[in-house]
Amino acid sequence: MLNLTSLEESSFSPHTLDKFATLMAAGNGFLGVRASHEEPYTGQTRGMYMAGLYHRAGQGETTELINLPDVQHMHIELDGEIFSLLAGRVETYHRELDFACGELRRTVVWVAPNGRRYRIACQRFLSMAQFSLLCSRVVITPLDEDARVSIATGIDATQTNSGRQHLDEISVRVFDQRYLQGGYRTQDGQDEVIITSHCAVPAGAGSRFFAKNRRLSQHISADVRCGDAFEIVKTSWIACSRDGATPESALASLTACAEQPYDALLAESAQAWARRWQHSRVQVGSQNPEDQRALDFALYHLFAMTPTHSERCSIAAKGLTGEGYKGHIFWDTEVFLLPFFQMTQPDVARQLLSYRWHNLPGAQAKAQRNGYEGALFPWESAWSGEEETPEFAAINIRTGLRQKVASALAEHHLVADIAWAVDAWYQTTRDDDFMRKQGLALLMESARFWISRAVEVNGQLELHDVIGPDEYTEHVNNNAYTNYLAHHNVARALHFHQHFDSPDAAFIARAENFLARLTLPQADENGLIAQDDSFFSKPTIDLTRYKAQQGTQAILLDYSRAEVNEMQILKQADVVMLNYLLPSRFTPSQLAANLDYYEPRTIHDSSLSKAIHGIVAARCQRPEQAYRFWQEACLIDLGPEPHSCDDGIHAAATGAIWLGAVQGFAGLTVREGELHLNPCLPAEWHSITVPFCWQGEHVELTITRQEVSLSARLTLWIGAQKVTVEPGQILPLAAFIGSVTGSGTTQEANV
Ligand code: BGC
Repeated sequence: MLNLTSLEESSFSPHTLDKFATLMAAGNGFLGVRASHEEPYTGQTRGMYMAGLYHRAGQGETTELINLPDVQHMHIELDGEIFSLLAGRVETYHRELDFACGELRRTVVWVAPNGRRYRIACQRFLSMAQFSLLCSRVVITPLDEDARVSIATGIDATQTNSGRQHLDEISVRVFDQRYLQGGYRTQDGQDEVIITSHCAVPAGAGSRFFAKNRRLSQHISADVRCGDAFEIVKTSWIACSRDGATPESALASLTACAEQPYDALLAESAQAWARRWQHSRVQVGSQNPEDQRALDFALYHLFAMTPTHSERCSIAAKGLTGEGYKGHIFWDTEVFLLPFFQMTQPDVARQLLSYRWHNLPGAQAKAQRNGYEGALFPWESAWSGEEETPEFAAINIRTGLRQKVASALAEHHLVADIAWAVDAWYQTTRDDDFMRKQGLALLMESARFWISRAVEVNGQLELHDVIGPDEYTEHVNNNAYTNYLAHHNVARALHFHQHFDSPDAAFIARAENFLARLTLPQADENGLIAQDDSFFSKPTIDLTRYKAQQGTQAILLDYSRAEVNEMQILKQADVVMLNYLLPSRFTPSQLAANLDYYEPRTIHDSSLSKAIHGIVAARCQRPEQAYRFWQEACLIDLGPEPHSCDDGIHAAATGAIWLGAVQGFAGLTVREGELHLNPCLPAEWHSITVPFCWQGEHVELTITRQEVSLSARLTLWIGAQKVTVEPGQILPLAAFIGSVTGSGTTQEANV
């Protein structure tokens, strides 16, 4: 028994409706449904999204993940009073998302304006066993007197993406006086979404059907005795023509589900969830119970957001929980999310890499348009693999001017990030088949891009006019992160080309020339690496005030972007990010020096920043600092700020919670195809257990403050020693690295 935690909401607040709609969202990688209440509230964002289902509403618009017709809403009237937690009085309220099975449960005792009390219990889940299936159960119990209960629900296609309508209603039907079906076509005619719903109502309840103004609805009413429970179970099947669904097949699938009890469908889904948890759940023995909750929360969302059904889909920056970033895909996937899947469900990681391979033509076209060779992946990607980054950011309402978004033009590190992920994948899996069929093409095309992008300056090659991960510093030359990653990209392409391809002498010569001559900013006598050519010449300012409001980009209210660009101000980890991704290129003292220099200059306005600082701090054997960063990273979505995630979950940050625990505190990494262990547990933790998949075998690693053990026979490096550990054998850590929080353990093993 894994004994998972849950996420609870103990009181109703209209101010946190959107935050909790995100935190408690349901997902199975195919669909995501925001945890909006059944009854509507003005101003909230309701939402249901299907992975990969994007549309662009008009010429000047941006492609976005379509907000699908709403099937969760219910207009509930009790003795003529409209059920709303903003009316009458809430006597008790409790809502809970059960991470183990993804079920959302709410129980409310509501005192209506007429003074009568009713208990309203709602449950819902999106099936992990049948991805198109969404089920909900609502049970209403009059507590004081017999009651007249009316519920109107159905398929509401008035739903939009903030007013932009992407779907035309092409058919609405009611079959057998029971099944509602709506067919909706994207306005570009590409895809059809078919939504079919059924409400199981108690015998004796009245039912009428209506279709009006894009709403297909069923009105249910009944007289309910005091103390009796009135229950309806709504089953919906959400399918798309892209997957071969037709109105007939959708109706047949829904009919089969509607015949089964809610609990049976839930049990089937819970089993599928249990399989995911079984080989992935990280368990920590911590003085702080919130640590385990944060890890469970992160993994729940990692499972909920990740498409496993198609390699044409990847993970959006907000998963399937909201419309932030229009549902687009960034480097977040390869660098922050992929490592979790690589170590727990390699098949899923492979699929995520395949998404980029399928989109190579778009990346090649973008490179060509910009005068480069190879593949220049879009900074923001959707279905087609074309560049989807909006040309302009939000309008400045004082000047009426729009700021151009520079990322699509210059944030090219993404190309090398994808290559980094391909290499990391191979190190973990030794999957020759993938490398031959897809990996090599990704590596070669990305390498060709870098080779063509470099410019010659005084006999050296340089990369000019780039944006590194720190988006507050734009259009610079020789961003260290970009140069090192590009170097790594070309080096790995050359390596795999020589192993898996028939040698192309021209490519080999160009790659060798690039590797020999590309500028790699070196550490100075203090161990510091310049973020770019001009960084150290810029002034610094006190960032305390902005760091206190991190995540809000408050600095941009006081300074223009151009001004921020001319100061030593980082939005997020940059050199520290480089230190994290390519640790073997730097010494322990360089890691520490750069962490200490850059962190005070980093606002952490991006959610991709904190946890990475935590991991580097752990690698510097600074458990206290690492734990502080990690805990703060856990609060990005879960913290008290009422609007922290209104637009959707910070997907990369959930991946980073796992990374922080596994790569940071457990110190488990893969380098050159071998496992390395350098634990650095915070004082508050007495143990951590990490399940992972190593070359096809499931392994469980347990680290306490004194010992380490593994559930399978494995050869790995502990500190600087290579050992073979037998299953169940308990190794005293002191023999390898002093103590788990001791110093001097970051020394690289020479393999
Ligand atoms: C960050 C990027 C990130 C994007 C999506 C931005 O705020 O600066 O690094 O890829 O958000 O999460």
